[in-house]
Amino acid sequence: MSDKNRVIIFDTTMRDGEQSPGASMSLEEKIQISRIFDELGIDIIEAGFPIASPGDFEAVSAISKILKNSIPAGLSRHTKKDIDACYESLKSAKRFRIHTFISTSALHMKHKLNKTPEDVAESIKEHVTYARKFTDDVEWSCEDGTRTDMDFMCKTVEIAIKCGAKTINIPDTVGYTVPSEYTKIISTLLNKVPNIDKAILSTHTHNDLGLAVANSLAGVSAGARQVECTINGIGERAGNAALEEIVMAMKTRPDLMPFSTGINTKLLSKASKVVSNATGFPVQFNKAIVGKNAFAHESGIHQDGMLKNRNTYEIMTPESVGVKKTSLVMGKHSGRHAFKDKLNDLGYSGITDDVIQTAFGKFKVLADKKKHIYDEDIAALVDDSLIKEENVIKLKSLKVFAGTGEPQKADMTLEVYGEIKKASESGDGPVDAIFKCIKKLYPHDVNLQLYQVHAVTEGTDAQATVSVRIEENGKTTVGQAADTDTLVASANAYLNALNKMIIKRKKTAPPSTNLTSSQKKQKMKGI
Ligand code: KIV
Ligand code: ZN
Repeated sequence: MSDKNRVIIFDTTMRDGEQSPGASMSLEEKIQISRIFDELGIDIIEAGFPIASPGDFEAVSAISKILKNSIPAGLSRHTKKDIDACYESLKSAKRFRIHTFISTSALHMKHKLNKTPEDVAESIKEHVTYARKFTDDVEWSCEDGTRTDMDFMCKTVEIAIKCGAKTINIPDTVGYTVPSEYTKIISTLLNKVPNIDKAILSTHTHNDLGLAVANSLAGVSAGARQVECTINGIGERAGNAALEEIVMAMKTRPDLMPFSTGINTKLLSKASKVVSNATGFPVQFNKAIVGKNAFAHESGIHQDGMLKNRNTYEIMTPESVGVKKTSLVMGKHSGRHAFKDKLNDLGYSGITDDVIQTAFGKFKVLADKKKHIYDEDIAALVDDSLIKEENVIKLKSLKVFAGTGEPQKADMTLEVYGEIKKASESGDGPVDAIFKCIKKLYPHDVNLQLYQVHAVTEGTDAQATVSVRIEENGKTTVGQAADTDTLVASANAYLNALNKMIIKRKKTAPPSTNLTSSQKKQKMKGI
């Protein structure tokens, strides 16, 4: 395959993905995700929208410092303040990209921007030129591109390239286009814009009609050579094009799509899990590539075919995306060395001795409770140990009275800022009683948005992973914990979310206006 068929993978999980309601990630989680993305072979990581909040700025700065291979990018509207914030947050990276955008559809220009097409053309000149002062890697996007008049789009793209943009992104902001139309847009730009050879065309598609991946692949087939996508397809509303689906479609059908990427597909499954853990968004069982059932063959006919020849029902191997057969791994006599080898096997290379030690300690405790420990158990322990926030509230002990007849009750001891506190509460079920105890011992006012339990493996002695999402003044955090006792995991997951919220409160500047959280988000996005 020649270089002209190399497709650049631009990941926006931590920018457009984080714009999904409730998908906010902590700094530590973003750093963990970035390390995996760097290893995965993503070319450009859009790390955030630096002007949007101090937390976003801090995350983009931190990520810019740690990437070894991937190039960090930040998003900006057409204002000098936005572009300055991008530069300030990205400047410690050897190479970085500033991604600036403005709407070009008649609808958005009139009703959202209150600007004429001439104003928008002027703004492109001014802001792309300004961004180029900081870097030669400037990307320009025409928001609502797929509902933009084609002649006007050609004109704006030509201006952006003339002013120095090296990548031109065509967003299907509202997920409205279909493959044949998107093909036509990309082809028209390639045929009509006189200086198009000086830039790379990029796809950016949303999934409102379930066509995001199909539209992006159509764009690539028509000549685009960058795809903007997210892991697990998370993103605004119905999400963005899923990175893992785009990459595996091209890898599996080179006869029809002879394109290459720099992605190490064996890390896709791990990247998916880490993003799912950080956001608290579970991956649907039948999700292509990374869903739990993506490689499961249930029917007798299929199983029979698979035993005779895997190609009968398998178009790609589970190993190619990093899914390994669940294996019975270790028991309570397994030592630290074997544990470390196992972590390498599971793709956890490069984690610190501290994390290994913590995870190993948890493994020993688990091995005492659970007879069989599987790969998934080990992965849950390590994921738990990787998120190292400074917890100011810790669970010391928990006793729960549940069952029929008596009211459900919890007795809890917490360490709150170093002080031991005890409470006893009853509730509508044991989980309610547990959460009430926490509220009594550390009074707070958050909305519980999500409480979810997953079994890590099969069997009644399986570990449970509990995810909790809480919201306070428009800010959300996700807490997670794993334990063989679902109620202990529930308490720890809630405390994990609460501890993160306490950290977030400290890091975030007080809201400056009376806008609601969604209004603020929209304002930041310029909608
Ligand atoms: O969907 C969209 O239009 C965007 C742009 C900001 C690139 O995310
Ligand atoms: Zn988008």
